Amino acid sequence: MLDSFGRRINYVRISVTDRCDLRCKYCMPQTNPFFYKKKDILTLTNLKKISEALIKLGIKKIRITGGEPLIRKDIIEYIKFLGSKKINNEIDELLLTTNGTQLSQYSESLFKYGVRRINVSLDSLISEKFNFITNGGLLEKVLEGIFSIKKKGIEVKINTVLIKNFNEDEIINLVKWCGEHNFKLSFIEIMPIGDVPISRNKQYLPVSNAKEIINKELKLEPSSLKSPGPSNYYYCKSLDTHIGFISPISNHFCRTCNRIRVTSNGIIYPCLGDNNSVDLNPFLNEQDDKKLIKILQKLIYTKPEKHFFNINEKSYIKKRYMNTTGG
Ligand code: 5AD
Ligand code: SF4
Repeated sequence: MLDSFGRRINYVRISVTDRCDLRCKYCMPQTNPFFYKKKDILTLTNLKKISEALIKLGIKKIRITGGEPLIRKDIIEYIKFLGSKKINNEIDELLLTTNGTQLSQYSESLFKYGVRRINVSLDSLISEKFNFITNGGLLEKVLEGIFSIKKKGIEVKINTVLIKNFNEDEIINLVKWCGEHNFKLSFIEIMPIGDVPISRNKQYLPVSNAKEIINKELKLEPSSLKSPGPSNYYYCKSLDTHIGFISPISNHFCRTCNRIRVTSNGIIYPCLGDNNSVDLNPFLNEQDDKKLIKILQKLIYTKPEKHFFNINEKSYIKKRYMNTTGG
């Protein structure tokens, strides 16, 4: 389906839970993070309904996200369902974004049901720092998970949020580590989504800084890799690896945006950086999906032209945190 700016919308990110076993400092408030009521979280039946309606409207790529999607109890049931859509060629790709803590126990099922690429969020390769930024996470557990999916033949992509005065000094190490293990790597600028105690400006490190650091030590060349997503790729010859830079703040990529998002309580957002949304719940109890399809069509059509993040504000979107819409 095309939106009013002619962008083909064929990609959805579905958050299956807003709960997470980690508490990354830039993602949610440290005390009393806000979570939806359990009864408001979409049931498996409704997750399937929404997915099917979106597939009918031309969605070809589905990414499951969170919170941490793998802590949802019936997650494998849902992945199995989407896997069957992939087998029937109703979708082309089934993807997952995870913090990696549960990967080792699920790697087998994930592969079995058709997941071939997984994004793992990882902001530090030093145990103490990882533990600090995630508020208690165990790096070893995540690394174990990463290597278990690699072993199954699933492609690993590491997503690192650039944080000033926190992981600047690990950029080279992360690049080398990913190069060594054949993982893709993307650096992401921090976004002012959700009020956190510290000013976003103090956390913000533009991707240009990371590029400069890497170029100085390892040399970067323009990359032939072009993805439809927001990553801008460079090639590092000495490591034979491509490195992506995602710059929601310093360089909008909205013109080519092909995605929409569904939160775990059934609200659909045509843009991560905009509060325009529709609650799908009133349409989920109907006999057929006519009304649901109609409302989805309308919403996709009105996807905003771009977001207006301002890094000088503590948060542009205040009451919604990244654990609601996911990465
Ligand atoms: N800005 C950018 N990325 C964020 N994430 C969480 N909060 C933010 C933020 N404010 C990332 C996580 C993970 C994904 C869920 O989103 O690091 O990769
Ligand atoms: Fe959890 Fe991801 Fe948020 Fe960290 S960034 S707290 S892993 S949802």
